[in-house]
Amino acid sequence: MTGAPNGVPLVEPRGGEHAPVLRNAAIDSLAIRADGCYVDATFGRGGHAGEILGRLGDEGKLVAIDRDPEAAAAAAVLFSGDTRARFVRSRFSELAQHVAPASADGILFDLGVSSPQLDEARRGFSFMRDGPLDMRMDPDSGVSAAAFLAGSGEREIATVIARLGEERHARRIARAIVAARASGPIETTGRLAGVVAAAVPGREPGRHPATRTFQALRIHVNDELAELERALPQAVEALRPGGRLVVISFHSLEDRIAKRFMRAASREDPAFADLPLLPASARPRMKLIGRATFADETEVARNPRARSAVMRVAERLPS
Ligand SMILES: C[S@@+](CC[C@H](N)C(=O)[O-])C[C@H]1O[C@@H](n2cnc3c(N)ncnc32)[C@H](O)[C@@H]1O
Repeated sequence: MTGAPNGVPLVEPRGGEHAPVLRNAAIDSLAIRADGCYVDATFGRGGHAGEILGRLGDEGKLVAIDRDPEAAAAAAVLFSGDTRARFVRSRFSELAQHVAPASADGILFDLGVSSPQLDEARRGFSFMRDGPLDMRMDPDSGVSAAAFLAGSGEREIATVIARLGEERHARRIARAIVAARASGPIETTGRLAGVVAAAVPGREPGRHPATRTFQALRIHVNDELAELERALPQAVEALRPGGRLVVISFHSLEDRIAKRFMRAASREDPAFADLPLLPASARPRMKLIGRATFADETEVARNPRARSAVMRVAERLPS
């Protein structure tokens, strides 16, 4: 699948599967050379990584990154015996520690969560399946969603749900969460989904009332927006001239970060606009390639999670 979109639909894929979103468009945009070096910063279950490997020759290289231990296990199987590929279990905001400057011919970010993460009740991402309220992509670090809800005030909870979930009933939901804590901590996805459903007036057809709240908590718990903000400048450093940066996002706030970053990197530094000769540091570092790309109707019909996907591409310019 994809990153969890704005509204995780009521249809979910079968366990363990992940249908890569915009697979062909992303792979074409990377303009893969058989002897190039590529980085898949969000390995997931290796849908995109497998496609990249399939286009590399013996001299090609792939570095795959993911912070999820189960992605690491999937990579061990996919890469078994393939000396061209290397998996690093890490946050992608640490990309510079794993990829040398000016060494990559293409870097892909396919943001959000994978279908197996959503499907496994024990990972605590889904309001559809009861399990511990965790939501961490890396369960070995950070604070779970349950701990965040237990340790935060009503106002902070409302702010997270309003901003990251774009939920208009955020204050009502936060109030209900704090009231529910009085009868014991909210430690399961089922309990949270019930508390939110009871707090939200009316029903949107085809969408569980807790969709936006779960999305907001997931983004918050995994610090997803800050991760992207930190990673993009490192990706530019890691690219060789001519190398491509491809970002697929599933949330308007993520897409805004990718769009603004690529636009700013593809402009001259305005502080130097009046100088007759631009210093190298003020020249654009990237060139935009095409416009935003969306999944077509056929892909959305096959994989409803593709409906909120937006792909943006830029190319590294020589320094
Ligand atoms: C949408 S899935 C990628 C799916 C993959 N393209 C495929 O075809 O299987 C996103 C993956 O990125 C990982 N991820 C998200 N944010 C991350 C971060 N900041 N650092 C490392 N991995 C991250 C998640 O754990 C998840 O496995």
